[in-house]
Amino acid sequence: MSQKQTLILGIESSCDDTAAAVVANGRTILSSAAASQIEIHQKYGGVVPEIASRCHAESIDPVVSEALEKAGVTLADIDAIAVTAAPGLVGSLLVGVSYAKGLSYASDKPLVPVHHIRSHIASVYPAHPDLEPPFLALVASGGHSHIIEVKSYTEFRVLGRTRDDAAGECFDKTARVLGFPYPGGVYMDKAAKRGDPTAFVFPKCRVEGSELDFSFSGLKTAVINTVHNLEQKGETVPINDIAACVQATIAGVLTDHLALAAEAYRHNKILLAGGVAANSGLRDTVAKMCAQKGYDLYLPPKNLCGDNGVMVAVQGYYEYIAGVRAGLDLNASPTMDIAASFME
Ligand code: KG4
Ligand code: ZN
Repeated sequence: MSQKQTLILGIESSCDDTAAAVVANGRTILSSAAASQIEIHQKYGGVVPEIASRCHAESIDPVVSEALEKAGVTLADIDAIAVTAAPGLVGSLLVGVSYAKGLSYASDKPLVPVHHIRSHIASVYPAHPDLEPPFLALVASGGHSHIIEVKSYTEFRVLGRTRDDAAGECFDKTARVLGFPYPGGVYMDKAAKRGDPTAFVFPKCRVEGSELDFSFSGLKTAVINTVHNLEQKGETVPINDIAACVQATIAGVLTDHLALAAEAYRHNKILLAGGVAANSGLRDTVAKMCAQKGYDLYLPPKNLCGDNGVMVAVQGYYEYIAGVRAGLDLNASPTMDIAASFME
């Protein structure tokens, strides 16, 4: 007789994607639904928090209904409702958290709070059924650039983090200088394929006394200065070459620090996650490093790199089986360390 599967409904609204998914046993994706707000925020060159919250409030009910429908289940079949409760834009998080609390109360199903960066890491599990902690993760997104030791599904230690801009933020800000729409990371990736990654030398900034931390704001400034100098001299800005050099610099720094951390903390399993994990330059550079050192590399499929409901349902499953629960007093937190617990 087959054992009953544990079904988790995951709800994500931490930034500008309203998303939901149903996942069985943390590994089998039954459905995924999302409403993107990118076109609305593009007009402003970045996410406008008030508009983001309003869009989440409009989309959340239809998105959750779509996820349940596509999975061929009703709320009665779900074992727990997982929701991103930190970190992120507080107004955006609150929409998901309030909605999930309402669903939990109405259906009498457990509510499981999930940390956003934990769930980015979990986005890799469905594609790699054999992957289990411990391993080393690089999570690079619009808001975060972290090197994390994943000790178990629910135990984490941050080994390195950015001191200023995140890697995705650096892609987006330099993309803006080059005239690309928001969010510019994906346009930089495309332009970089046609450019010369050796045309310019941009700084690989280090953080004094902390070799695993990152600093990307110097790179942003270098690109702004390069573009202004070229414009002042009346020269054409070689957009593709600059994009290729920015990408090579970011991918190089992230990979170098990852290699250092793997060596120092003796890990031979490496995982990439977050929006920037979709970057082809970063994927190639990390893959080469891993091949050279004999490390196993685990990548998320490109459609699960950015924010999505699947990763919340997957991490929600591991939090659920570890006994993590929240009551109706659950609040959203704009900042929270990945190692912290919602139960404290
Ligand atoms: O994980 P995510 O969807 O949201 C946050 O949690 O921040 O990451 C979004 C970030 C944006 O900065 C976006 O430009 C970047 O990921 N991104 C990329 C690529 N695709 C998305 N950056 C570089 N290359 C890409 N292909
Ligand atoms: Zn994210």
